[in-house]
Amino acid sequence: MTAAAATTPAPRTVIEARALTKRFQGLVSVDAVSFAIAENETLGVIGPNGAGKTTLVNMISGTLTPTEGEVIFEGRNINDVPAFRRAHLGIARTFQVMKPFHGMTVLENVAVGALFGRDGGEKSMAKARETAREWLEFTGLGRKIDLGADSLGGPDRKRLEFAKALAMKPRLLLLDEVMAGLNPVEVDEVVELIKTIRGQGMAMLVIEHVVKAIRSLSDRVMVLHHGQKIADDDPATVLEDPRVIEAYLGKRRT
Ligand SMILES: Nc1ncnc2c1ncn2[C@@H]1O[C@H](COP(=O)(O)OP(=O)(O)OP(=O)(O)O)[C@@H](O)[C@H]1O
Ligand SMILES: [Mg+2]
Repeated sequence: MTAAAATTPAPRTVIEARALTKRFQGLVSVDAVSFAIAENETLGVIGPNGAGKTTLVNMISGTLTPTEGEVIFEGRNINDVPAFRRAHLGIARTFQVMKPFHGMTVLENVAVGALFGRDGGEKSMAKARETAREWLEFTGLGRKIDLGADSLGGPDRKRLEFAKALAMKPRLLLLDEVMAGLNPVEVDEVVELIKTIRGQGMAMLVIEHVVKAIRSLSDRVMVLHHGQKIADDDPATVLEDPRVIEAYLGKRRT
């Protein structure tokens, strides 16, 4: 072992799920799922509809309380930390069903994200608007900042969700199907955007049905099926796994 190798610290774990379980009236939506994501690492999450992907993200972002198990963020159990405080800690997520703030402009929507982000967010409205403007430029909405958020079409709403989450300056970014409903050219654009922000210290969890995007973005891919983790490995291994093909990819080989 070289001296350099001996002194290089291992990547720090940002988020760890320990045997996370969610039951809804007897139905097990997430069944003892464990995983970890280190800084600068992207975990892709795939699985059929209803597999428990969004439920998992809800437990990590704090909108759902786990029935059993632990959410560990930067070494600390945050099971009892409410969602808005998790945002202050640096956990940001997008919503699969987008919820822009009604009656507000695109810029104002993202400025709200900036005001509620890591470490309590930006301290002034002026700074929040500046941060919002930067991320809206980044996500391709720079020319639409003064439009009402309600007036945006589907793809632009996805970009808005993405900008809002990034404006929170997260340590952990949870992306729940930000590419759904986008055409192939738009998917490639979003993949490039995500690649641009990789490697800046963030840990990312990317839920996506677009296998091509998962393959090109993920360092590891985890597969959920009926709430259980059936695979967690490098993308090539997982996407060739007969059990994964049987459970999921067989129906959507792209
Ligand atoms: N609040 C809830 N109350 C009752 N059941 C729920 C609730 N939320 C989710 N479920 C159930 O939990 C299971 C997992 O749902 P979830 O939304 O996590 O799946 P998903 O993998 O995100 O699916 P999709 O790919 O369609 O987004 C489903 O059977 C769903 O009906
Ligand atoms: Mg979902």
